[in-house]
Amino acid sequence: MTYKHTKTLDTSKDFILPCRKDNLQTIKDFLPIAKPDFDGSFSTHQLLYGSQGNRIYLIGLGEEKHSAQLEKTFQKLAFDTQKYWDKSIQVYAEDLTEDEVRKAVIGLEMAQYEIGEFKSKKEKQHKITISFSSTKSVKKILDEGKYTGETINKIKGLVDAPPNIKTPEFLGNWAEKSAKDAKYKCTVLKHKELKKQGFEAVLSVGKGSVNKPVVIINEYNGKTSKKVDIALVGKGITFDSGGLSIKPSTNLHYMKSDMGGAAVVLGVVELIAKLKLKINIVGIVCSAENAVDAESYRPGDVINSYSGKTIEIIDTDAEGRLVLADGLSYAVKNLKPDYLIDLATLTGSVVRTLGYEAAGMFTHNEAMAKTMSDIGYNVHERVWQLPMFEEYKSDLHSDIADLRNFSGKPLTGATNAAQFLESFTEDHENWMHLDIAGVSFGSSPYAKMKSASGYGIQLITEFIKEKALK
Ligand code: BES
Ligand code: ZN
Ligand code: ZN
Repeated sequence: MTYKHTKTLDTSKDFILPCRKDNLQTIKDFLPIAKPDFDGSFSTHQLLYGSQGNRIYLIGLGEEKHSAQLEKTFQKLAFDTQKYWDKSIQVYAEDLTEDEVRKAVIGLEMAQYEIGEFKSKKEKQHKITISFSSTKSVKKILDEGKYTGETINKIKGLVDAPPNIKTPEFLGNWAEKSAKDAKYKCTVLKHKELKKQGFEAVLSVGKGSVNKPVVIINEYNGKTSKKVDIALVGKGITFDSGGLSIKPSTNLHYMKSDMGGAAVVLGVVELIAKLKLKINIVGIVCSAENAVDAESYRPGDVINSYSGKTIEIIDTDAEGRLVLADGLSYAVKNLKPDYLIDLATLTGSVVRTLGYEAAGMFTHNEAMAKTMSDIGYNVHERVWQLPMFEEYKSDLHSDIADLRNFSGKPLTGATNAAQFLESFTEDHENWMHLDIAGVSFGSSPYAKMKSASGYGIQLITEFIKEKALK
């Protein structure tokens, strides 16, 4: 899709007319309809034909409370009707705010997502130019919306990709190509280098797979200074079988999505580079496959880590926290970032606690929690803070090593995982952990099986925008 700004709307051609709930003055301004049978309800649309036989789509923006998820209404319209659109269509944008225009573009772009990438016969999409008409120029917002929507689609493509294709090395290649295209620096640490630098926890998790682990370090410098403003760390388990503590087979195929955190980190760095924000960020992806093999790490093993802390393995299915431990240690030791945020599909516990509506948020920094929570509401990628009380910490105690990777109890699972990670942050004041297990992958109206949601791109990008120089 191509997006353009125009000053005036050509009412003799196809156009989309956004309408707010129970305020249908817009319709009356354009059409001689006294009492329209369309009330502007959220995510509804209706087709009328104009006097030139042109298409006029009335599209419902709903109420104020729907504004955070406005992309859904445009995504639905495009998904349902774009096969009928000609080479171009207009959007009447005079009454839309900048946020609404951006969300409209994100939604239109999200409707271009092709879930059937691996089908032998693919449906052909035709090129469409969408002109947003308004007296005020929205060119910059259109670009931003397009880049954001494209990034969301790209990371959905990664999360939905099959695990035999999306190996750790594949993620590394993806990052190298992205870095070349969007002009940032990418370093992929492979087996030999990981050994040399001491990424012992990453290596342990990856031991049982022929697809060897990698750590990806993506650096974007939008400022002249060298100081790292924000470091992002993502869990990139390309398939989580559970390892020797093997998972049941029901829904096991969905464990291809266990690199949802990594996908957000890869996507955000690419997007920030394309938006050329004045900020320095580093994205770290710790990627491995948690497989079953004679070489696999075992329950009972004591492993080392990048930090030098030893870990007793109680359950090989608690592997995400291990790879993240090394990513966090690497960040605090080498980058000393102002903010440190990790994202991971880390626990089933957070899914049982918050379902599919919010990520679990863990931090000791209340100001950061408030900022993230507010942004979450605004972009409809919500977060909900969960506790890290001191008393829970005894669950990490090991008799034989510095700490263990699982308490063995069916209690406070998401908190235990967060506190395990905290042990590798050296009490970084601006650290936050987001457990996105429930929100990164799930049901949608556009697929019969569960699929990637794209959660996190807007949340983290808006957070970074707030910290960037204006
Ligand atoms: N990848 C899973 C968490 C997960 C669950 C992600 C459901 C997405 C949907 C993680 O590695 C895991 O297996 N966690 C275990 C930890 C337990 C063994 C301590 C869990 O939460 O059950
Ligand atoms: Zn696991
Ligand atoms: Zn996992």
